[in-house]
Amino acid sequence: MTAAPESGPNPDHILQVGMGFFASKTLLSAVELELFTVVSGSGLTGEEIARRLGLHERSRYDFLDALVALGLLERTGSSGAEAVYSNTADATAFLDKASPAYLGGILEMANTRLYGFWGSLTEALRTGLPQNEIKTGAPGLFEGIYAEPELLRVFLDGMQGIQLGAFSALCASLELTSLRNFCDIGGANGTLSAMVATANPQLTGVSFDLPPVAPVAEANLARHGVADRVTTAVGDFFADDFPPADVYFMGNILHDWDEAQKRSLIEKAYAGLPSGGMLVAIENIIDDDRRTNAFGLLMSLNMLIELPGGFDYTGAQFDGWARAAGFDHTEVRHLAGPTSAAIAYKG
Ligand SMILES: C[S@@+](CC[C@H](N)C(=O)[O-])C[C@H]1O[C@@H](n2cnc3c(N)ncnc32)[C@H](O)[C@@H]1O
Repeated sequence: MTAAPESGPNPDHILQVGMGFFASKTLLSAVELELFTVVSGSGLTGEEIARRLGLHERSRYDFLDALVALGLLERTGSSGAEAVYSNTADATAFLDKASPAYLGGILEMANTRLYGFWGSLTEALRTGLPQNEIKTGAPGLFEGIYAEPELLRVFLDGMQGIQLGAFSALCASLELTSLRNFCDIGGANGTLSAMVATANPQLTGVSFDLPPVAPVAEANLARHGVADRVTTAVGDFFADDFPPADVYFMGNILHDWDEAQKRSLIEKAYAGLPSGGMLVAIENIIDDDRRTNAFGLLMSLNMLIELPGGFDYTGAQFDGWARAAGFDHTEVRHLAGPTSAAIAYKG
């Protein structure tokens, strides 16, 4: 094979991004089929995997070897019937359903919902309109999802999966020893509340969310052994006041809404906090120059797909909204991957 010239324009990056959905959907289907859970342990031959997953004989080895080439499976032995497939260390930690760090929930959600909806991105860019359940009649994202128990489960698992690493980093770095109570606004299944309460035994807390979410959160808080210190509160964060607290968390909340709604949530947080309190938004905060956090920018496009007015934002935008609400100052603290905590301090 002749080597390609090393300088000058190169199509590799363009092709990698343009055809990226090949790799993406291969992983999403592997998660859907629970491949990484099935092969956990010492590994299985291709034939055994095919039998357990119900794979047709035509492409089973292309599927498995593609996952090897993508760095998501290990293979010992040459290809074909002799080969044994097992999980990589990352797949063992994050893609085996038996692992406590399983983050496949977000990939299950991407497979069930977003993969299809993103097929209409061009239409969204032309119309500015959501392309999800709202397009087929649901009154809103949450109303559409929460009407179906299985979608509710997939959505809540998805939210947890995408935030888990950031939540861990937040709990490890945020100093809360002088505070007495917290409230997680839009706390979903209560995972952040459980992690904060576990890391800070002196704190009591409330996980605040819409009514259909409360039973899921209560079961999760009990499973984490913190139900005596963390309770749930149901309500609508636009219509109701926030339960008073020394610190409010908002994980991936502000990006769901338009600017006026973002400002109103930040104002409510300011009103509910004592002096010295803080608001902590855990999101894919975009760099102020809007050049480097590609995931944050793509997440903002995902808000276009999912909601009528949502968008992700920079630390500078957060600072402007927080100061306008009365907060004294803000900081952006990197947590994990593309996710940071934007923290507003009440003077
Ligand atoms: C994108 S999810 C984020 C969940 C979680 N905080 C996280 O970081 O993964 C948004 C959450 O806001 C909740 N929510 C949406 N609208 C709400 C409203 N009007 N009042 C209260 N909660 C709401 C949803 O039920 C959902 O749990």
